[in-house]
Amino acid sequence: MWGISFSLFALMSFGLVGAIVCKNVIRADFPAGFVFGAGSSAYQTEGAANQDGRTPSIWDTFAHARYIKPSADIACDGYHRYKEDIQLMVETGLDAYRFSISWSRLIPNGRGPINPKGLQYYNNFINELVSHGIQPHVTLHHFDLPQVLEDQYGGWVSRKIVKDFMKYADVCFREFGDRVKHWTTINEANVFAMGGYGSGQVPPQRCSHPFGDCSKGNSTTEPYIAAHIMLLAHASVYRLYEKNYKDKQRGFIGLNLLSFSFVPLTDSSDDEIATERANVLFIGWFLNPLVFGDYPVLMKKNAGSRLPAFTVQESESIRSSFDFLGLNYYFEMNVTKIPNVLQLEERDVAADMGIQLENVLNFTSRSEYPIAPWGLTGVLEYIKQHYNNPLIYIHENGQRTQRNSTLEDWPRIEYLQAYIRCVIDNIRNGSNLKGYFAWSFMDSFELFDGYEARFGFYYINFDDPELKRRRKLSAHWYSHFLKRENITLDGIVLSPSRDYI
Ligand code: NOJ
Repeated sequence: MWGISFSLFALMSFGLVGAIVCKNVIRADFPAGFVFGAGSSAYQTEGAANQDGRTPSIWDTFAHARYIKPSADIACDGYHRYKEDIQLMVETGLDAYRFSISWSRLIPNGRGPINPKGLQYYNNFINELVSHGIQPHVTLHHFDLPQVLEDQYGGWVSRKIVKDFMKYADVCFREFGDRVKHWTTINEANVFAMGGYGSGQVPPQRCSHPFGDCSKGNSTTEPYIAAHIMLLAHASVYRLYEKNYKDKQRGFIGLNLLSFSFVPLTDSSDDEIATERANVLFIGWFLNPLVFGDYPVLMKKNAGSRLPAFTVQESESIRSSFDFLGLNYYFEMNVTKIPNVLQLEERDVAADMGIQLENVLNFTSRSEYPIAPWGLTGVLEYIKQHYNNPLIYIHENGQRTQRNSTLEDWPRIEYLQAYIRCVIDNIRNGSNLKGYFAWSFMDSFELFDGYEARFGFYYINFDDPELKRRRKLSAHWYSHFLKRENITLDGIVLSPSRDYI
């Protein structure tokens, strides 16, 4: 045990803690039933990629193609160490844990027979969580479609996926729905559409020149097609649950989107209008259909026939097909207008919106994220005002530090502290927020950075085959906040334990 205790308050006076805007807060300030948790996803943590019947997903293919050594074949080895990990969750004091199911572990051919070992694994995992009083919040698709379905019919650009996704969801509801009450169909559907099919920066890495460098795809049409089919698949799964499971299981179904706070680059009215368009694209593309049953007018106008249309029946099925929105938020972005873009013959989604998105998709920069929680407030206000104040879980929010960062992860504590303070302000301002999940529970295999970036409360040395979990200072801090109802976020006294040292 260290002899000295640190308090954030003391560190603030030494100027080590960054700008903080929202007021101080204690756990007991949050409404009853508000859950605090942390998250992960299957491919990023499970490992055992080729074990017990699992087959590759599009993320395996993507990671291997990028030569990110050694990809996530082992990752955190969560598949074998889940009991130890859940024990750490208990020690941290999580109310809930967000994770995803690997479709190709549960149903290795994408459709058809269930893999008994995959089924056993998820049953064990969920039982372990529930027996420790931790709510499982489950995502069905986290960038990891079974590769076999991509190969057979093109995955999310084919309508065939709707039936297969429904069958997969049906298996999950039937097998796990007695214990899982929160289901998210698709993680970051907007990023998956734009990055997977527009710029080619995320699996399945489809795009066309000059929008990216991929071996196949069409950046002018496929993002719209994939998004359309995702919405149809999401709604079909929602309706399936409503019809066959809701009465008995009493769970909730949502969709997850990444959000940015868009800020005009200059104070010109052009950039202000461009900023509004960025919101239409990033949030409205999916939320407009989910809330009002159709795409935003501007998107329909600018994309023309490249944007698929909903039939009356589809529109009815999609409208209101969500119980909550899962929102990921990390940082704000500047937006500027691209002039005369609508005169270009070849346009991708960003060009259709007339906005410069270079900054927005610059995910690969290695720096830490700025602490600007007012950006999150802006997004929450925007959604409240434009989309009838839906119920929201903040599914991801967290700080990236570098691979060589230490266990004393002050930047993470500063970041989380600032954002959690703002969450309560938003609740008081009327946003319908029901939970907050920090990203991520432990260091894992990152989408853009492999093992070069860290987001976790728990440190893992990925070069050491032991993959020992080591508690970071942020875990200690989060745990104090969660377990002691009346300690203010900046009054937490940190006396690191041996684990941390
Ligand atoms: C979004 C993704 O859902 C997750 O997989 C990723 O690790 C985090 N953001 C951080 O980049």
